[in-house]
Amino acid sequence: NDPVVAIVGVTGAVGAEFIAAMDKRGFRISKLKALASARSAGKTVSFRGQNVVIEELTERSFEGVDIALFSAGGSISRKYAPIAVKSGAVVVDNSSAFRMDPNVPLVIPEINANRIRDHKGIIANPNCAAITALVPLWPIHQKNRIKRVIISTYQAASGAGAAAMEELVESTRANLNGQVYTPKVMPHPYAFNLFNHNTAVDPETGYNDEETKVIKETRKIFEDDSIAVGVTCVRVPVLRAHCEAITFECEQPITEDQVRAIMAQAPGVKVVDDRAKNYFPMPIDASGQDDVLVGRIRKDLSDASGHSISMFVAADQLLKGAALNAVQIAELLPQRVMA
Ligand code: A2P
Repeated sequence: NDPVVAIVGVTGAVGAEFIAAMDKRGFRISKLKALASARSAGKTVSFRGQNVVIEELTERSFEGVDIALFSAGGSISRKYAPIAVKSGAVVVDNSSAFRMDPNVPLVIPEINANRIRDHKGIIANPNCAAITALVPLWPIHQKNRIKRVIISTYQAASGAGAAAMEELVESTRANLNGQVYTPKVMPHPYAFNLFNHNTAVDPETGYNDEETKVIKETRKIFEDDSIAVGVTCVRVPVLRAHCEAITFECEQPITEDQVRAIMAQAPGVKVVDDRAKNYFPMPIDASGQDDVLVGRIRKDLSDASGHSISMFVAADQLLKGAALNAVQIAELLPQRVMA
């Protein structure tokens, strides 16, 4: 029997991509339950040529649901994911609510699909900046352990949801028309600007929450508590798809040719690395693509010992960074939690 699938946050930027990813991959379901806030109840979403009426999320929404894909923010997940599990559903949660819970597998299928079977009802989808870095780093780490990695992100509006994408468009338009735009979603003017990631900054360490997530989630997913991670997360005025500059240091010497060969075979990776044409990963190319684009693969000249490589990557935050990864996890699920 094909599963009944609920999408929580179906009207959101990721919610829409859950539907598109299921459609594209031919994910078989017997019924779609479209859930959002009371504001959206009664509207419809289109799925495989049918209009599905959106229902308000309530404690009774999960009766008969086999798989629930959540992307409506951490507080909704904290409240409703346990209710969904109690109703017999398996939850794939895109929020950060349960990622570091030792009872919750944190899964990127290309890396640790084997962890899915450990779940107790909830499986967490990692942070989008973490997924973008870790998909290409994992196959390198397998061959030549990465001791240390430094990541600088260039994160798109899509990671902050549909309202943030709209704010980027509207504030850019206002700017070009010479009008004043007061930010509603982002903490700073977004048009023709960039700023520290819009998550809380720890007053002690100076790290924002996004950076802390990347550090902790890398260690959990790689099952390597000693990997050293340095990270700076920045929001840039790009609508969709995150980029990252990554420099990593391996235990053994490593060459750019070795990295190129590993990347050519890596699942979920596409090499875009044309020095003659100055053509490298760009958000505009990554948007709508399933793969993480990897390029600018080159020796880190600051490390004379030959253990370090730098590269530049781009990935669709809404797809591999969120909805696609969650649907890939759902594809690997047995339908129900076994009591
Ligand atoms: P709604 O459109 O009805 O507000 P995004 O990540 O793009 O900002 O989207 C957030 C998603 O979370 C939307 O689908 C939104 O639905 C949903 N959402 C927000 N608050 C609630 C709530 N209280 N109950 C259910 N869904 C919610």
